[in-house]
Amino acid sequence: ETVHLADYAPVPVTVTHLDVSFQLDPKATRVSSRLTCKRQGPGEMVLNGEGLKTLSVTLDGVPLDADRHTLGDRTLTLHDAPDEFLLETVVEIAPADNKALSGLYMSNGMYCTQCEAEGFRRITWMLDRPDVMATYDVAIDSDLPVLLSNGNERAAGVWHDPWPKPTYLFALVAGDLVATSDSFTTMEGKDVALNVWVRPGDEDRTAYALDALKRSMAWDEEVYGRAYDLSVFNIVAVDDFNMGAMENKGLNVFNSRYVLASPETATDADYANIERIVAHEYFHNWTGNRITCRDWFQLCLKEGLTVFRDEQFSQDQRGYAVQRIGDVMNLRARQFREDAGPLAHPVRPESFVEINNFYTATVYEKGAEVIGMLRTLIGAEAWDQGVALYFERHDGEACTIEDWLAVFEEAAERDLTQFKLWYSQAGTPRVRVTEHFSDGLYRIDLAQSVPPTPGQPDKQPMVIPLAFGLLDREGNEIRPTEVRELTTAGDSLTFDLAEKPVLSILRGFSAPVILEFDRPDADRLTLLAHDTDAFSRWEAGRVLAKDRLMRAISEDAEFDAGWLDAVATLAQDDNAEPAFRALALALPSEDDLAQSLHEAGIVPDPDRIHLTRRAAQMAVAERLANALPDLRAAMATPGAYSPAAEDAGKRALSASLLKLQTMRDGGAAARRVYDTADNMTDRMAAFACLLDVGDPDVAAQFEADWSHDRLVMDKWFMAQVAHATPVDAVGVAERLTKRADFDPSNPNRFRALIGGLTTGNPAGFHRADGSGYAFVTDWLLRLDPSNPQTAARMSTAFDSWRRYDADRQALVREQLDRMAAADPSRDLAEMVARMRAA
Ligand code: ARG
Ligand code: ZN
Repeated sequence: ETVHLADYAPVPVTVTHLDVSFQLDPKATRVSSRLTCKRQGPGEMVLNGEGLKTLSVTLDGVPLDADRHTLGDRTLTLHDAPDEFLLETVVEIAPADNKALSGLYMSNGMYCTQCEAEGFRRITWMLDRPDVMATYDVAIDSDLPVLLSNGNERAAGVWHDPWPKPTYLFALVAGDLVATSDSFTTMEGKDVALNVWVRPGDEDRTAYALDALKRSMAWDEEVYGRAYDLSVFNIVAVDDFNMGAMENKGLNVFNSRYVLASPETATDADYANIERIVAHEYFHNWTGNRITCRDWFQLCLKEGLTVFRDEQFSQDQRGYAVQRIGDVMNLRARQFREDAGPLAHPVRPESFVEINNFYTATVYEKGAEVIGMLRTLIGAEAWDQGVALYFERHDGEACTIEDWLAVFEEAAERDLTQFKLWYSQAGTPRVRVTEHFSDGLYRIDLAQSVPPTPGQPDKQPMVIPLAFGLLDREGNEIRPTEVRELTTAGDSLTFDLAEKPVLSILRGFSAPVILEFDRPDADRLTLLAHDTDAFSRWEAGRVLAKDRLMRAISEDAEFDAGWLDAVATLAQDDNAEPAFRALALALPSEDDLAQSLHEAGIVPDPDRIHLTRRAAQMAVAERLANALPDLRAAMATPGAYSPAAEDAGKRALSASLLKLQTMRDGGAAARRVYDTADNMTDRMAAFACLLDVGDPDVAAQFEADWSHDRLVMDKWFMAQVAHATPVDAVGVAERLTKRADFDPSNPNRFRALIGGLTTGNPAGFHRADGSGYAFVTDWLLRLDPSNPQTAARMSTAFDSWRRYDADRQALVREQLDRMAAADPSRDLAEMVARMRAA
């Protein structure tokens, strides 16, 4: 049941058009479809179906004889299909019973679909693969007032999509919905109706998503010359959704948490996510829909590129430096972790059992970094030419990474064979830097290596673009940024200089690598204070902090005044943006420290990491001490709440400072903020602080105010688990699961609670008695039969188990064995098998 990239073959018979009609019913929806089929080579036509009650199959209007077809459990095989024919099927499905949230399902009384990657086969018989592209006519029969599908509406509930698309982009929505509407005129002069559809009562929370959509449309025209191509663009918010959102042609379906926002209910982070995800799904219209993937191994072709584009968009909307630092933090937290463990896989995997297990940080975020490197290596001009060529040459096609790279080989007149290793070699490359200075000669030695990963013991050297500059001892830049390519295992750079400079390397995080660079603190302090590259400044501070924390954990080292002074100076530096200062104040996460200790050959102790990190925060709080209230007052954002980056940055710094202040005043300031906040960003910051100090009332107060609001209550569930003491965390989580409003079939609620423990409270999850592991396993096994996708995804909590001590490893192994023995879904079975093999 493993699928291999090497086995790709085109279908012998394809489908060019679908006529599908739906008679909606919760328990018995009837789907009648007519496929226009066309032979393109010899062989049998094998259609996909899953859980369908097949009522009839006819070919050119004639019921199929038994010897002309085989109706299997998951396949319908036509033995001697003619060159051109119409295949008609009628099936029955039960959307109300579909708790996997894949295919056609119901969420809060509305019908909706999720077809990526292989959900269409749960709706009707079809060639459910991305290289089969067809036009669609869809008719929806239902009493519900709003009936939506892809394309343009011809009559009530009758839709036509003129753009050929694969099945995974099909969508249908039906329900009692209300729209907030607007319009956009494209650069080609086409008027597009824009609608954001939500349940009645939510319409006052749609403005920001709609605004983000218009900005995305304008940006894609301006930056990539891409205009929208239908007369309507619909977004629908759905409460039960396995992922963030889905780019169905002309009908994007969103997890409601990434649509609905008001100042009272959404945080700045929610607003930023809404902006980014609305843009991401919109940008897919060209990178994904007009040009799609030949097969699922090419997933990064659309996802890496679209993440790259949404990151560029967010940089333009919110400021380059802060956005870039945030994206790098996210990459390191999720992708580097993935790359370092049993689930490591290439950006373009070569085999899989269940494709849904490969919607990963590696495919998405590392995929985006690979594209960023490509742009750096060939330059902005060749990049623009190559992308334009890609759109021109491949519009309407289902493509591969080879197609993608070929346009840049042409545009840049450069061979990309070695660069392509970024798509096939898993693991995070290490770049070791050593400096030498004597007699006016400064030399940098560079050495690269890529660690072994599952199935890939030996690696070849990669092309690594290293952006660097040089500063003098006083911090003046003496050589501006240039990019050198490291293409061999080792290389050196030399410069004639009177004194040893301060090297600023990996500026802007020019490659997704781990830098190994032992250097004097003085150099790092110079970079932190003076570097012209904001990422590199922030990075210098992060390395200093990490070094302090690692030594405090492993050798009981004290937090030295030099470091604390540098942190305090930056926190108070009015020349730096507040958002940047907030990022600079953030200490490396507990998970990051655990991984780094492990790589340094030290077995991480989760409790010790937790306590040491708190001690470091306390040391920073004491250093800033009486300056904290004034610093925080200076970050006030008077007037009406604005989600824009400037105010959000002030609130972010204010929240960091409030956390420090809470360590000194026991929560007095946080209590005042909580009681007076007029927005959810400040309120959540204060809520977290009050939970940290064990405030006995705040959880009940929050609940009294917000029990009616599902999205806000997700925050409540998560925060209580994440901010419980490590000793209490599992107990708190367990108690919360007993509440009537803990509905595990809602993925947001499940992720809030379980993720609150596994990622929000690592010391609680890794309790030495194994209770965290057992608790999470119990819930994964409970969810798996109904929703394998989310269960499998959440199982990644265990992917770092090999870092820990023998006792903890034995406890995790017990749980992995328990899952393997429980006859899990294909999704969960694949994940568990990969993690057990470590
Ligand atoms: N293509 C969607 C996005 O990037 C993700 C949908 C993935 N869904 C899934 N079931 N694997 O926004
Ligand atoms: Zn995407």
